[in-house]
Amino acid sequence: MNRIVTLDEFIIKRQKDFPFASGELTGLLRDIGVAAKIVNREVNKAGLLNILGVADAHNATGDEVQKLDLYANDKLIDCLSNSGECCGIASEENEDFIPIPPVGNKQSKYVVVFDPLDGSSNINVNVSVGTIFGIYRRKSEASGPCQLEDFLQKGAEMVAAGYVLYGTSTLLVYTTGRGVNGFTLDPTIGEFCLSHKDIRIPARGNYYSVNQGYYLKFDVEMRRFIDHCSDLNLRLRYIGSMVSDIHRILFQGGIFLYPNTRKYPFGKLRLVYECNPLSFIVEQAGGHAITCELDRVLDVPVSDLHQRATIAIGSPDMVEEMKSFVQRYRI
Ligand code: AHG
Ligand code: MN
Ligand code: MN
Repeated sequence: MNRIVTLDEFIIKRQKDFPFASGELTGLLRDIGVAAKIVNREVNKAGLLNILGVADAHNATGDEVQKLDLYANDKLIDCLSNSGECCGIASEENEDFIPIPPVGNKQSKYVVVFDPLDGSSNINVNVSVGTIFGIYRRKSEASGPCQLEDFLQKGAEMVAAGYVLYGTSTLLVYTTGRGVNGFTLDPTIGEFCLSHKDIRIPARGNYYSVNQGYYLKFDVEMRRFIDHCSDLNLRLRYIGSMVSDIHRILFQGGIFLYPNTRKYPFGKLRLVYECNPLSFIVEQAGGHAITCELDRVLDVPVSDLHQRATIAIGSPDMVEEMKSFVQRYRI
């Protein structure tokens, strides 16, 4: 039998690869692992408890918020605040970033951004949801509280990113810029165990993922590319949880698109909480991620915490193909 490698063990082992690492990043990833286990427990219980349903609130970008979103948000904030391993967080569910006071005399040099529960419209029907996170080194003076500039860094500046998928099993996938690894939660021992080592995305795949219901609202070049995917007999899969859709593509190859529509002229997905962390992971696995304006997602300037972005992400050859369609058909 192969020896089990737990997430904590793996993170500590990897820390040794960074000669000047202070252990803060290691601690942060562990905090997120703990929060993920707590959220997982609640997601699993959601069908049984009266936690379901729409809370009397809207998130900062005007979308409907489900109660479990708030729960996941609170747990992540709690886990990240208690250890003092980060000096601030920004969440899709909060209008502003939240500075975290130092614990003892420890001044952390990292900030964390996250979408606590992605695909929350799936909760009530028992379909997969996820958590997405990204970690940046702060830009502001370490002696004071974190500042907005710490969160408005380009995705390319990220030092780590990951997601948790609460699906048929619960998986945590993360990168610190040296490849991507996946861990499956073994509920019998309550540990994330290394299950997918050095994940590589296939150059092409048989899947495309887009909300095709908006077809008529897409620009002509996007419609031509979607027609092309259909001509190739690619299989359409769209869960409505970006984490779940990207997870399939990461393992089986394909392309995920969320272009601009009339309702969302700049795209719907959030650059800071969704597009950048997932782009970092996909790029680390050998994939590509660009906007419909054909810029690398990770290079898009960030001016607002809740900025939206268009995205085409997935297998490298398929993203390049989408790029050439846009160049050919753009009016
Ligand atoms: P969230 O639940 O965090 O608001 O995110 C939902 C996002 C994303 O996960 C998904 O891909 C997309 O919204 C679905 O949007 P449409 O319903 O417009 O297709
Ligand atoms: Mn989301
Ligand atoms: Mn969300």
